[in-house]
Amino acid sequence: MTAEAHKPKSMILGTGSGIPEKIVTNQDLEKIVDTTDEWIRERSGIERRHILEEGKANSDLSIIAAEQALEDAGLKAKDLDVIIVGTVTPDSPFPSTACRVQAAIGAVKAAAFDISAACSGFLYGIKLADSMIRSGSARYVLVIGAEILTRITDWEDRGTCVLFGDGAGAAVLGPSDGTRGILSSYFKSDGRLAHLLHMEAGGSRYPATHETVDKRMHFIRMEGREVFKHAVRTMSDAATHALEQAGIHPDDLDFLITHQANIRIIEAISKRLKLPKDKVFINIQEYGNTSAASIPIALNQARREGALKDGFRCLLVAFGGGFTWGSALIQF
Ligand code: UT7
Repeated sequence: MTAEAHKPKSMILGTGSGIPEKIVTNQDLEKIVDTTDEWIRERSGIERRHILEEGKANSDLSIIAAEQALEDAGLKAKDLDVIIVGTVTPDSPFPSTACRVQAAIGAVKAAAFDISAACSGFLYGIKLADSMIRSGSARYVLVIGAEILTRITDWEDRGTCVLFGDGAGAAVLGPSDGTRGILSSYFKSDGRLAHLLHMEAGGSRYPATHETVDKRMHFIRMEGREVFKHAVRTMSDAATHALEQAGIHPDDLDFLITHQANIRIIEAISKRLKLPKDKVFINIQEYGNTSAASIPIALNQARREGALKDGFRCLLVAFGGGFTWGSALIQF
């Protein structure tokens, strides 16, 4: 690849997040299923999660994240050309959550659509936004990762219900200033492994019926141990691809944000990249696994807390149901 190809064409101009107020601790879950705080912490790293109150939906959090990101970027909603929401828990099957956000914030000239890539949804969105800005078909793109996973969580399945939380994170992308921005990005899938992490009913194969509800088919089902192995392998693969594409050695990386699914997965990837702990951002203890929202929530937190500094070279890596995975290497 030529040096010109490595030059960033798009950059992140602002970030934001929308986090529900209600907190559910591991001790709270001990009262619902046969589990312990100790097991959850040791096996996943999670201590608590934020859960959206009844009567509210995905777009309520997405709108908060979007408005914060726009303010941070110094832009108005009417400046946006495209809005992309990565989610598998939209307000409703259609219209898209992106269209709901578009209307609510007044992004009058923006095209809007959702993408379904589970936990990789935000990075799939970043890849698309970079491509659109690179090609000149858009100037300002809002990418949101938002998920209300607790609405599709089986509170009788201790293998999954202790893991998930709700939230939204957003980033506004625009033209690069020439030095800062997206250096490389990568995305991939393997649908042969769909059955390891999925929700069976609620679509055209098994529309909602009394039977699908009785059979508890409207919840997330996951083969945790299998998914774990694939998550480590594919996220390491995605990290290597983004670094190689940009011609950058892992030693020259300043910061890593992975999808926050399990602290042991994050540690395994960091080890493979030989990254010291202080270069790896972890907030799973506070939010649990928020799927497509986990990377943008972490990115926003790391920027606002000053952990992710200007001048840092930061790698984002995700993996999720599908299977899908992806990465983006960004010069801040
Ligand atoms: O976001 C998309 C990607 N998702 C992921 O990357 C998640 C990947 N998977 C994981 O993070 C882990 O596999 C889990 C955290 C889900 C599970 O951890 P694990 O170490 O793989 O545990 P396991 O499923 O192998 O279960 C070990 C034991 C089992 O008991 P036995 O069969 O050994 O007697 C489970 O029944 O732990 C038991 N167990 C629990 N015990 C207490 C499972 N869930 C719980 C629980 N509390 N909540």
